[in-house]
Amino acid sequence: MGSRVTALTWRPQTFDELVGQDVITRTLKNAITSGRLHHAFLFSGLRGSGKTSTARILAKALNCETGPTPTPCLTCSSCTEIRDGNSLDVVEIDAASNNSVDNIRELREWIRYNSARDRNKIYIIDEVHMLSTSAFNALLKTLEEPPENVIFILATTELHKIPATILSRTQQFDFRQIPLFKIEQRLQEIVESEGLDVEAEAIALISQASGGSMRDALSVFDQVVAATGERMTRLDVQSILGVVEDANLLDLLEGVLKASAAQVLSRISDLVHFGHDLKQVYDALTAFVRDSLVMKSVEDASELVQRSYGHGTRHQDLLDQFSRGDLVRVLDVLVTQEPIFRHAFEPRFALELILLKLIEIRKLAPLEEVLAQIQELPTAAVVEPAKKKLT
Ligand SMILES: Nc1ncnc2c1ncn2[C@@H]1O[C@H](COP(=O)(O)OP(=O)(O)O)[C@@H](O)[C@H]1O
Ligand SMILES: [Mg+2]
Ligand SMILES: [Zn+2]
Repeated sequence: MGSRVTALTWRPQTFDELVGQDVITRTLKNAITSGRLHHAFLFSGLRGSGKTSTARILAKALNCETGPTPTPCLTCSSCTEIRDGNSLDVVEIDAASNNSVDNIRELREWIRYNSARDRNKIYIIDEVHMLSTSAFNALLKTLEEPPENVIFILATTELHKIPATILSRTQQFDFRQIPLFKIEQRLQEIVESEGLDVEAEAIALISQASGGSMRDALSVFDQVVAATGERMTRLDVQSILGVVEDANLLDLLEGVLKASAAQVLSRISDLVHFGHDLKQVYDALTAFVRDSLVMKSVEDASELVQRSYGHGTRHQDLLDQFSRGDLVRVLDVLVTQEPIFRHAFEPRFALELILLKLIEIRKLAPLEEVLAQIQELPTAAVVEPAKKKLT
């Protein structure tokens, strides 16, 4: 099979192929159809979410022989040259390595000439936040007096580093994390079209590891294919990525909430036994408790949680049995103890200690509450009527 780079072979070539950026593709398509197009765009957002791909699709849409059209033909010389990165009228530069004012002066020279053949000259500047201040100023002059038929597409993962003067002269598109189920769908499509044999749960785990970046999902996918060949199971992905199974996280949280030191200790022992990196376990547990807290607090949490969790009813039952205060207490300790855990000489002991401490804190909690009530008694009487007025 050789080494594969799925991210490159599966770069979306049309707006419809782009996954999870519907608002952006709809807006761009409408602008192209109506002929009301900005001359400078700024694509910002997460790595591997489709900024460069969209810039190239937009370039094809504008310069296709059949265009401008939201559905470029993909076969004319403009389309194929843009796809292959050798169009004379579409230039891509990486600002990370061309960030000087001289580079921008060269660019201004270049745009002074008419386009070589195509309708527009399109300049794609990637990682634009890397430009030096003087380079930004030079670019600004060009954006202020845009030569005819020149279109800029700037892309960045770090929007906060872009000067306001540039922001105000561009139309901005924010590329969001791609919803995990859409990443799963895309992976499924790739698996089917390449005739691989991959368990659905393996795909789910890969997309969970992606953090909403399609490129990251595809590179994890390649990593697992390289190790396993054409058959891939959930266990393969788990052992290669060191993914901590939801059931383990649930066991740990349940052990803490139900004050079962035995359950906590034996689960940690299992995780060590299976060769898990406990730092990864700690992060996964923190994210799990955080998401549990969100699910406990918000009616429809699907937009706010990091990912979906298996074991639906067991997880939900546990959440039903305990209060938000209980979860806050667990998350509070996990977050504040994290630096201590990270620097621990023996991570296993540190994890055990932190979780057992949580069990002890919980036992102490009622006493704490009683003390707090006693202390609050006089003020509570004063505060009470005011509260009533508000409701
Ligand atoms: N929205 C998306 N839909 C489908 N594939 C995507 C998407 N975003 C990224 N990819 C995949 O990741 C690769 C890198 O994407 P790219 O557009 O270069 O990301 P960015 O420029 O945002 O870092 C693409 O070749 C493609 O395989
Ligand atoms: Mg890019
Ligand atoms: Zn074309």
